[in-house]
Amino acid sequence: MTTADFKKMIVEGIPGKLPAPKPYDQNLNHAPRRKDILSPEEKKLAIKNALRYFPLQFHKILAGEFARELIDTGRIYMFRFRPDYEIKARHIDDFPYKSRHAAAIMLMISNNLDTSVAQHPHELITYGGNGAVFQNWAQYRLTMKYLSEMTDEQTLVIYSGHPLGLFPSHKDAPRLVVTNGMVIPNYSSQDDWERFNALGVSQYGQMTAGSYMYIGPQGIVHGTTITILNTCRKLRGKNKDNGLKLFVSSGLGGMSGAQPKAASLAGVISVIAEINPKAINTRYTQGWVDEVVSDTERLAERVNDAIKGKRAVSFAYHGNIVDLWEQFARYNIKIDIGSDQTSLHNPWAGGYYPAGISFEESNRLISSDPEKFKELVRESLRRQVKAINTHCERGTYFFDYGNAFLLEASRAGADIMNSQGNFKYPSYVEDIMGPMCFDYGFGPFRWVCCSNDPADLEMTDRIAAETLGKIMKDSPLEIQQQLSDNLLWIEQASKNKLVVGSQARILYADAEGRIAIAKRFNSAIERGIISAPVVIGRDHHDVSGTDSPYRETSNIRDGSKFTADMAVQNVIGDSFRGATWVSLHNGGGVGWGEVINGGFGMVLDGSKETDKKLTMMLHWDVNNGIARRSWARNSGAMFTLEREMKRTPGLNVTVPFIADDRLIDEALSE
Ligand SMILES: NC(=O)c1ccc[n+]([C@@H]2O[C@H](COP(=O)([O-])OP(=O)(O)OC[C@H]3O[C@@H](n4cnc5c(N)ncnc54)[C@H](O)[C@@H]3O)[C@@H](O)[C@H]2O)c1
Repeated sequence: MTTADFKKMIVEGIPGKLPAPKPYDQNLNHAPRRKDILSPEEKKLAIKNALRYFPLQFHKILAGEFARELIDTGRIYMFRFRPDYEIKARHIDDFPYKSRHAAAIMLMISNNLDTSVAQHPHELITYGGNGAVFQNWAQYRLTMKYLSEMTDEQTLVIYSGHPLGLFPSHKDAPRLVVTNGMVIPNYSSQDDWERFNALGVSQYGQMTAGSYMYIGPQGIVHGTTITILNTCRKLRGKNKDNGLKLFVSSGLGGMSGAQPKAASLAGVISVIAEINPKAINTRYTQGWVDEVVSDTERLAERVNDAIKGKRAVSFAYHGNIVDLWEQFARYNIKIDIGSDQTSLHNPWAGGYYPAGISFEESNRLISSDPEKFKELVRESLRRQVKAINTHCERGTYFFDYGNAFLLEASRAGADIMNSQGNFKYPSYVEDIMGPMCFDYGFGPFRWVCCSNDPADLEMTDRIAAETLGKIMKDSPLEIQQQLSDNLLWIEQASKNKLVVGSQARILYADAEGRIAIAKRFNSAIERGIISAPVVIGRDHHDVSGTDSPYRETSNIRDGSKFTADMAVQNVIGDSFRGATWVSLHNGGGVGWGEVINGGFGMVLDGSKETDKKLTMMLHWDVNNGIARRSWARNSGAMFTLEREMKRTPGLNVTVPFIADDRLIDEALSE
C-alpha cells in the first residue's frame, strides 16, 4: 500500500461502503472472553450504542454481527472495521495532517496498536490484559480522521476512547484532552467496569495505553532494572558485598515479562513462574529468558548450579507460582527477593490463574462458572501467601509489585496482615521507588523520535548522556546514585537493543534533568541536528502523575494517600502550561477504582514557544509531586524542594513544621 493510499484511508474515517468481515487471526494473542454481565435489556442498549457510529443502511447487517460479538467475546469490538493497512509508528509526515502536532499523536496511537507492541492488538488492548486504547474500531477510525483534519486552533476531546469531537480552542491549548474510566466514585467496582465497558460507554485505559504513551517493553525493563538494583542496595545496607541474589516472582506477560531480562541486567538470578505457554515462548524466543523448566525438582537443581557457579541465569518455570513457592520451601531454597506480577488488578477475568487446575480449565471457568472461579482464586491466594510467609520467616525480602497482590490476598482472607492491621509486606514504591526515586523527583521520562529514524534516536541518546554527565558534576551526593544508574543505562541503551515499535527511549530523571534534556533536543531540532520533532512524555507511574494508595503514593504517611488531588491537579496544570495532550484515568496498574492517574505528551518542534512551554510544564509536572511529598514530611522530598526553591524564582511552596511525637503523646495522655 502506498503512503498516499494509507493517507486516504485515514482521512476517510468510517468507510462509506461496508468493508468485508475480517477473519479471526489465530497467530495473535487475543483478549479472553469477558464476563457475560449485561441483562437482556442492557444487551439491546449495547448494540444500539454501537450502531450510533454508522449510517442506517449498515444497521441490519451490523446489528446481528454486533450481537454475535457481544455473545462470543463479551464486548463489541467491531472487528470488521479493523483497517487493512499495517498499524505502526511511521515518519510523522507519512500521516495526513493540517496540524503537525496532531500527526505526532497519530504516530503515538499507531504505536500502541502495532501488532508487535500491543498485547491483544485486535481487541485494541496494549497491555495489562485490559489496557485499552479504544473500545472499538469505529472509535479508532473516527479519532484518526479527526486528527488528520484538525488545525492548531482546535482541541479533540476523547471520553474513554470515544471521540466526542473537535472543539474550537487556541494555538497554546492542548490539541487533545483524554479521560479514561472517569466515573462517579460510588460506581467504580470491578463489575461496574465490566458493565460500562460492555455497554460501550467507558474503558480501562491502564496508564500509557489509553494516553498513547506506551513505548513497548523498554520502559518496563528499565523500571524493573532500577527496582531490582535499588532492592539489592536496600538489602546490602552498609555491607559492601552484596553477594549473588536469587529473585522469585511470577508473570512473563506484557510488563511482567521484563523481570528476567531486568534481573540479568542487575546481575541477579531469577526464577519467574508463568502458566501460559504462549507468554513463555515469546520471552524465550526474544532471548529475555535463558532457560525454561517445567519440573520443580529439576529447577531447584539448576538454580543451585547457578548459585554455585555465580552466574546470573534467568529461568522461566512453566507452571503455577503457588507450586513454585511451595516446592522451593520444601527444597529449602533460600530466596533473597520475592515478588508477584500476576495481573491481580484484574483477578476474576484471567489476570490470576488459581493453583490446582489447568490453564485451559481456568479459561473455561471464567465465563462458565465465575463464582466457582472466584473461590478457586481466593483459595489459591491463601495458599500462595502461606508459602511466601514461610520463606519470609527464613529471610526472604518480599514486596508487592503494584499488581494489587496484597490487596486481593487480604480480600481473600490470606494471612497477610500484621498485628497493627497493616500489610505484612511493603509495596515496591513504599520501600524502594518512593523514598529512593520519586521523593527526589526521579521518574520515567521518555521520548519518541517522530522521524521514526534510528539515527535520530542515537543522536538523542548522545545528547541525553552528555546532559546527564554535565548535571552530575555539580549535583549533591543524595542524587548521585540515581544519576549514575541512568547515565550508565543511556550509554548502553543502544547495545541492549530494546526498541520495539517507535524509536523511543526512557530514563529516570528529575525536573532539572528532564528540562535540560528537552531543551537540548528542542534546540537540536531547530538546528536540524535531529531531523524531525520529538515527543516527550512519561509513564503515569511517576512522582506526581498518580494517586494510588498501595503503589505510587504508598509512602505518603500523613493520611492523604486516599486523596487524588495531586493527580488531578497535575493534569490541569500540565494542560495550561503547554502540553500537547493530557489524559486523566481511573484505574491503571492496581485496578479500576483503586487509582487516579494522568499523563501528558508534548511535541518538541524546535520553536522558541516550545522552549518556554517545556520549561514551565516539566517544572510543574515534577514539582507538584515534590511539594505534596514534602508536605507529607518525606525527608527526600523536603530536601529536593528546598533545593528547588533556592534556584527557581517564583516558586514558593508551603513547607511543614515537624512536630515532636512525644509532645503529642503527652498532650493526648493529659
Ligand atoms: N512491571 C512493573 O513495573 C509493574 C508496575 C506496576 C504494576 N505492575 C502490575 O503487574 C501486573 C502484571 O502486568 P502485565 O502487563 O505483565 O500483565 P499480563 O496479564 O500481561 O501478565 C501477567 C502474567 O501472569 C500469568 N499468570 C497469572 N496467574 C498466574 C499464576 N498463578 N502462576 C503463574 N503465572 C500466572 C499470566 O499468564 C500472564 O502471562 C499488572 O497487575 C500490572 O499492573 C507491573
